[in-house]
Amino acid sequence: MKALLKFKSMKECTVTGKRVLVRVDINSPLDPVTKHITSDNRIVKTAPTVRWLAEQGAKVALIAHQGDTDDYQNLITLEEHATLLAKELDRPVRYIDDVCGPAAVQAIEALNEGDIVLLGNLRYLAEEISVFEKVVPLKPSEMTGCWLIRTLAPLFDLYVNDAFSAAHRSSPSMVAFQEVLPSAAGPLLFDEVEALTTILTASEHPSVFVLGGARIGDAFGMMQSVLENGTADRILTLGVTGQVFLLASGIELGEKTHAFLQGKSLLGFVDEARAFLKSYPNRILMPTDLAYADVHGTRVEIAVQTSMPNESYGDIGSKTIELYSREIAKAKTVFVNGPAGIYEKELFEKATREIWRAIAASDGYTVVGGGDSVSAASKYTNLDDWSYVCTAGGAMVRFMSGKTLPLIKAMEQASK
Ligand code: 3PG
Repeated sequence: MKALLKFKSMKECTVTGKRVLVRVDINSPLDPVTKHITSDNRIVKTAPTVRWLAEQGAKVALIAHQGDTDDYQNLITLEEHATLLAKELDRPVRYIDDVCGPAAVQAIEALNEGDIVLLGNLRYLAEEISVFEKVVPLKPSEMTGCWLIRTLAPLFDLYVNDAFSAAHRSSPSMVAFQEVLPSAAGPLLFDEVEALTTILTASEHPSVFVLGGARIGDAFGMMQSVLENGTADRILTLGVTGQVFLLASGIELGEKTHAFLQGKSLLGFVDEARAFLKSYPNRILMPTDLAYADVHGTRVEIAVQTSMPNESYGDIGSKTIELYSREIAKAKTVFVNGPAGIYEKELFEKATREIWRAIAASDGYTVVGGGDSVSAASKYTNLDDWSYVCTAGGAMVRFMSGKTLPLIKAMEQASK
C-alpha cells in the first residue's frame, strides 16, 4: 500500500538525535459539561507513532488541535491529552500551554533524546482555525509566513504528519511545514488510507455500505461516488438518512419528522434521495419499520406504511434489523458510518447495537469510521472484531467521496 501513497514514511528517516515535529490528531470527544475527554481512541491510536520516535532517540514535539462541542470555541487546553498519552506510552509527556510563543520555543530547545513535549492547542491560533481557507484563502506556499511556521520550522530537522483525520483541513499545521522542512508520513496515515482504499476498491463483493446518522451531507456525499463506480453493491439506509429516503419514496412521516428535518435544513436532501432511488432502484434499501416512544415512554415499533403516525422516530424496528443483518451476513465488504438511531438513549439503542454486532461478526472486510459510529462500536462490540476502526470522520467521508484531500496533496508535493 505504501507504494500507492507517493510519500515517504517516517520509518525511512534517520530520527535519532533529531528534533522531530509531529502533527497528530488527538481531537477527542468531550463531555459537554465537564469538558473532559470521553473517548481516548485517537490518543491510543497515535501512541505507537510517538513511542517509535521516542524509542529511536528523537526529540519529539507534538502539535495538535482540540475543538469544542460548540463550533470552534477554542478554549480547551491539551493538558488532559498529554496525561492520557503519557499513561498510554508509560513515559512522560510534558505539556506546554503555548503553541509557538517563547515558552514553546524554550521547551523545544530543551528537548533531549527520547523526550516528548505536547504544545498548546493549535486552535489558540487564529491562523489555524479550520475556516481559515475560506476567510483567507492562502496556498500552502503562502502559509509559510504564518507565525506557527515561521517560529517552529527553524527549530526542527523533520516534520511528520500522522493526522489523517484532519486531512481535509487546509491549515498551516497540516499543509505548510511540508514547504520548508523535510517531511514524512506517520504509520497511522498509511493505515487509514490503506483501509479506506481497500473499501473503495472493494475487491471483495458483495459490498455493503451502511449509512445512517444525522449528518445527511456525509452520507449523500459518499453515496454518489460509491454507487456510480460500483464500490457499493447495496446501501442500507438508517438513522435520519433512512427517514429522508422514506420521504423521498412517498412515505408520510408526519409533522414532527418534517419539523425536525426542516429545523436542521435537511429537507433539501429529499429531492436528492428521490434522484438516487430513480437512478439506482434496487441498490438502496430503506427501513421497513420504525420505532418511537409512546406516552408512557415505552418503545413501539410500527411497520412502514404510506401515512405514518405523527411521532418522533428515534430508531429503526426489528424487521429492518433482521433484513439488514441478512444483507450484512452475505457481504464480503462492509463499511459503516452513522448510527441507526438515537443510540445514546436506551430506548433507541437496539438497532445500532444489533446491526453493529452483525457487522463485527461478519467474516468479510469491515470498516467503521466517524466519531459516533466508533463510540457505538466500542460500546456494543469488541473493536478487535473489526478489520479496521478508522479514526477519521470528515476526512474519511471526503476521501470516500473521491475528493482530493489537502494533506495528501501537500505530502505528495513535498515528496517531489
Ligand atoms: C475531526 O474530528 O474531524 C478532525 O479532528 C478535524 O476537526 P475539526 O472538524 O474541528 O476541524
